[in-house]
Amino acid sequence: MRHLIDIAVVGAGAIGRTHIHTLSQMSGVRLAALVDPAAPAIALADEIGIPCFASVDDLINSGRANAAIVATPNETHLPVSEMFLRAGIPVLLEKPVAESLSSALQLLAVAEETRVPLLVGHHRRHNPIIRAAHQAIRSGRIGDLVMATVTCSLAKDAGYFDAPWRRRPGAGGPLLINLVHEIDLLRHFFGEIATVQAISSNARRGLPVEDTAAVCLAFKAGGLATLCISDAAAGPWAWDLTAGENLARFPAHDASAHHYAGSRAGLSLPDLTLWEPEAEPNWTRALRPSKLPVIQADPYEVQIAHFADLVRRKAEPLVSARDATANLIVLDAISAAADSGRAVTVDLSPLQSISPSQNKDGTVQ
Ligand SMILES: NC(=O)c1ccc[n+]([C@@H]2O[C@H](COP(=O)([O-])OP(=O)(O)OC[C@H]3O[C@@H](n4cnc5c(N)ncnc54)[C@H](O)[C@@H]3O)[C@@H](O)[C@H]2O)c1
Repeated sequence: MRHLIDIAVVGAGAIGRTHIHTLSQMSGVRLAALVDPAAPAIALADEIGIPCFASVDDLINSGRANAAIVATPNETHLPVSEMFLRAGIPVLLEKPVAESLSSALQLLAVAEETRVPLLVGHHRRHNPIIRAAHQAIRSGRIGDLVMATVTCSLAKDAGYFDAPWRRRPGAGGPLLINLVHEIDLLRHFFGEIATVQAISSNARRGLPVEDTAAVCLAFKAGGLATLCISDAAAGPWAWDLTAGENLARFPAHDASAHHYAGSRAGLSLPDLTLWEPEAEPNWTRALRPSKLPVIQADPYEVQIAHFADLVRRKAEPLVSARDATANLIVLDAISAAADSGRAVTVDLSPLQSISPSQNKDGTVQ
């Protein structure tokens, strides 16, 4: 019989509640406790009938959990996750991995040192849509990437910005909160990014963080992409508003948010429409659309099932701290490009300063 995993959710805010709901739908895992000093979290724990601890220390000392989902504000990701990892407790940590590259590198070092599983919550990677797209792209169905456009029109309500961290540079803003998902996917599909250019603006909301940005990417393997993102623009053209990943929070419009145009064919997401020519691509001849097959599943559930495998030491993290830190390096380059108005080279060398831990047989963990 499989051992039941007791999971604590740390931070019962917007996404913490998604994890709490997801856990309630799954077998093999159990919501053991919450950690969150805020009154709504205490009330929620009371309603569910589980303890709510005011601090991570209190939870660890209680021995109630053998795994933790960390869904607290970005600047707490390092201190909170480090406490768990040093206590030998595996962590599913919400994205972005940290609020800054320096914190991310410290966390990566702790993960490598302790070798306790740390999975970063780029949940889309667990979505069967992404798996189908990845398989199609990597097997050459669209040929070489020539160009891509990604749009993210997310008209957030004013109440969203009540949480002070969402207005703070280095913590809030759609680049760190939302674009990090798109960067993660583009790297997953097309490999590392060589250079970035960007323009950002806070003209719509007037907050200290940007509300809108236009970004250009050049990939090392060739191919260019543009990304337009805003948390103040209305429109259905965003992954969150089309993919149906979190229907309790977001509608699922019949529109697409990602368009990849390759040397052989085109692909749009999340609808998984492949546009192929009958013979050689020729702009005067019609392309034939077809849907790539997919069996839908809730990515948050698949993510937690994968996390359970990590807790049982049966898998390696699909999204490691190293991979998520590379996303952060790209975001830093985007911010630097927006600030300077110049193209910025993506420098992944800081990752080399943290050497991967090796297994006894010399393979890299
Ligand atoms: N994967 C996704 O789709 C997704 C979606 C939204 C948010 N996120 C990420 O999840 C994290 C949380 O975002 P949110 O929008 O849910 O935030 P939120 O502000 O809605 O909730 C954060 C919660 O954490 C609690 N908290 C703060 N510091 C704490 C601490 N030290 N210990 C315990 N609890 C603490 C707060 O009281 C609050 O209840 C962020 O890193 C964000 O980027 C991921």
